[in-house]
Amino acid sequence: MKVAVGCDHGGFPLKQAVVDKIKQLGFEVFDFGTNSSDSTDYPDFAIKVANAILSGQAERGILMCGSGVGVCITANKFKGIYASVAHDVYTAAQGVTHDNMNILCLGGRVISPTQAAALTEAFLTANSEGQEGRHLRRIKKVLEVENKNFK
Ligand code: RB5
Repeated sequence: MKVAVGCDHGGFPLKQAVVDKIKQLGFEVFDFGTNSSDSTDYPDFAIKVANAILSGQAERGILMCGSGVGVCITANKFKGIYASVAHDVYTAAQGVTHDNMNILCLGGRVISPTQAAALTEAFLTANSEGQEGRHLRRIKKVLEVENKNFK
């Protein structure tokens, strides 16, 4: 799997642990920065990771800011991006299996690098179950909303 990663200065303390875990899992990383704790703007990195997924460069993404919220809001402005903050492993995995989440958002001021690594593994080892049954029915309803409201 190819995974796009991006963070602002608030998420930077988590990035190395996330990148290391992705590589340990045998997946390929596209690192869109930032690369220091100097102040930056979270939308710049969320845009790069969202575009990497929409262009097919990566299949999933992990975004980090101080809380996870700013990058999540930005990423969800793109049609075809399903991003969520998840600070527990159940949600990080279930977001994929039930909801087709394709970007995990983490907060560098909320969780530790060790927790970020565990969440990364839960997210990247989960597989969507949205091809049939109740999850597909619900995802189709989400797509109807998306197609109605995103031009
Ligand atoms: C930056 O200070 C901070 O606002 C940002 O990293 C993020 O937490 C926004 O949601």
